[in-house]
Amino acid sequence: MTPAIDPKRRLRKWTEDPLPGPLCDLGYPVPNGRVMPVQQAEDRVDVDALIARFREHTARIGVIGLGYVGLPLLRTAAERGFSMLGVDIDRGKVDVLNAGGSYIGHIGADIIAGLRAARRFEATDDFSRLSEVDAIILCVPTPLTRQREPDLTFVERTTESIAPHLRRGQLVVLESTTYPGTTREVMQPILEMSGFQSGRDFFLAYSPEREDPGNAEFATSNIPKVVGADGPDALRLACALYHELVAKTVPVTSLETAEAVKLTENIFRSVNIALVNELKIVFEAMGIDVWEVIEAAKTKPFGYMPFYPGPGLGGHCIPIDPFYLTWKAREYDIATRFIELAGEINTAMPRRVVDKTVAALSERAGRALNGAQVLIVGVAYKKNVDDPRESPALKIMEFFEQRGAKASFHDPHLAKIPQTREHPTLNGRSSLPLTEATLAAIDVAVICTDHDVIDYALLVGKCPLIIDTRNVCARRGLSSERVVKA
Ligand SMILES: NC(=O)c1ccc[n+]([C@@H]2O[C@H](COP(=O)([O-])OP(=O)(O)OC[C@H]3O[C@@H](n4cnc5c(N)ncnc54)[C@H](O)[C@@H]3O)[C@@H](O)[C@H]2O)c1
Repeated sequence: MTPAIDPKRRLRKWTEDPLPGPLCDLGYPVPNGRVMPVQQAEDRVDVDALIARFREHTARIGVIGLGYVGLPLLRTAAERGFSMLGVDIDRGKVDVLNAGGSYIGHIGADIIAGLRAARRFEATDDFSRLSEVDAIILCVPTPLTRQREPDLTFVERTTESIAPHLRRGQLVVLESTTYPGTTREVMQPILEMSGFQSGRDFFLAYSPEREDPGNAEFATSNIPKVVGADGPDALRLACALYHELVAKTVPVTSLETAEAVKLTENIFRSVNIALVNELKIVFEAMGIDVWEVIEAAKTKPFGYMPFYPGPGLGGHCIPIDPFYLTWKAREYDIATRFIELAGEINTAMPRRVVDKTVAALSERAGRALNGAQVLIVGVAYKKNVDDPRESPALKIMEFFEQRGAKASFHDPHLAKIPQTREHPTLNGRSSLPLTEATLAAIDVAVICTDHDVIDYALLVGKCPLIIDTRNVCARRGLSSERVVKA
């Protein structure tokens, strides 16, 4: 991670030759040999004309990073009538989309095929085509490094790929979750190496994504969108664009404020989930069912919002994003104790599920974990999605195997565990069907994710022991002596 960007270093990356001599009056050299004329003050971009194109849906929009965030966004804008260009470095994804297919469970191939047939979008891995679009929206990953520090490599590389093709008058928006300062400190200097200036020649904004995969109630189009920008023209442009895509835009005063909003939302979730995870442990020791407590507490019509315990945090956001702020806060000599404590509690949950299983196997079945057959039910990080990133189920499977058990899994949304850097021993394993035969061969099932389509009645009917980390059996009226809440 490079907190401070040296603009000269960036330029050198784009050009084969070492830095050229002093820049001439006429323009700045750029990698492909073009010379960008320096804009004269009176040669202003016609911002109102671009706003009008956004309003009339005649603008062409580019989305970079066609994953869980970028593809739904591209779909929404295409359905609104915008001509879309999707850009991804993954050639496989580009080919699937152009052939009218999909690789994301909740966006059916029929939707993509329909948009392709209507010529509403095209996918490419050719960044030079970004000069065709009026707005460029970045939805690339923002993970943590192995040392749990922000890894902005994807944002940096993508910005470097845009810069040589930046055109005057374009709006550039970052949607990836990140710490306050990223858009201004990391992206802006890279883009300005083109010789163009933010707020004058191109327009820079940050608008965090609030996608909630698997939530049937909310999609890109009906989730309000916070927008921060570098200057008034950029803010007007970004708000004008998003106004056409979502029900409501929420402008804020700066890029940094918008970046902080997203982190605040995710830290709020992380801390509150940690709190109920802690309460679960305390109440369990007292013989109180935390799930019943939450159901009753949420009848309070003010001042309380329910969060639910679980086997640990998963997904691309909640386990990761809070540490973006922790890292940035160090620059200001500030410790983020709530965030660290929440991380500590949530990180301990997968081990606790394993310990509960060991105890239940011993007490209920008189057997050890070593040599036991364990079936993990639900591996995706949340219900009704096919995304296993950072899923605690993967950690739980590994912990079981480290302690001598044989762990298999059933997930109706995930046929195979994809390649991951963190869990190489699980790569490529296939989901078992949930049948009587499968259940006859296992000692214990551990419900990690409560997908709606799982046959819980079969599970409870045929499985000798069930560890339920989601309270789904009780919620389905399937309470049984064989079900242990964890
Ligand atoms: N998934 C969610 O529910 C969610 C919700 C809110 C915010 N976010 C944030 O949105 C961002 C994207 O997350 P995601 O879940 O869509 O990730 P993803 O991994 O599903 O998709 C990212 C895509 O970017 C592509 N990509 C990577 N580097 C690229 C590059 N240099 N140029 C072009 N394409 C590149 C990848 O091939 C991939 O298709 C992250 O910052 C994440 O924190 C995600």
